Amino acid sequence: MTKWTTRHKSTTISLKLLTAIFALLALAACGSSKSSSTLDGPKETVALYNARCISCHATDLSGKVGPDSDLRTVGSRMTKEQIVQEITNGGDIMPAFASKLNADEINALADWLSKQQ
Ligand code: HEC
Repeated sequence: MTKWTTRHKSTTISLKLLTAIFALLALAACGSSKSSSTLDGPKETVALYNARCISCHATDLSGKVGPDSDLRTVGSRMTKEQIVQEITNGGDIMPAFASKLNADEINALADWLSKQQ
């Protein structure tokens, strides 16, 4: 019986912990929805950017991982073809998206980014 009481107590504690974790998660979700961008562009492409790229390239394309991650004028530095290559194969820090995005998605992102000049 004593054993059961102990277990019961710890269950209560972990429920409280769970509630706290859920509250934190809700807060975190709130924070991340705030940081989703309202960039101009095709809705689906911007949604892809929000899902896959925003963590490193920021809500306004200005980049969070140093000057090389600034995409605001990427279209004047790189051709669409080069951008496709960068997204497909990645860079020094940037991960490759070849196995995460399909060709249409990569193409749409590159097309949109090549217009950022
Ligand atoms: C983990 C962080 C990270 C993620 C996620 C990421 N990138 Fe990058 N990206 C970088 C960094 C850092 C660079 C600069 C080159 C390097 O060091 O890899 C870069 C460079 C680029 C460049 C070339 C810019 C230039 O001037 O050389 C393009 C284009 C680009 N990223 C597009 C994207 C797209 C599109 C996505 C989403 C599908 C994405 N990136 C996701 C970190 C990231």
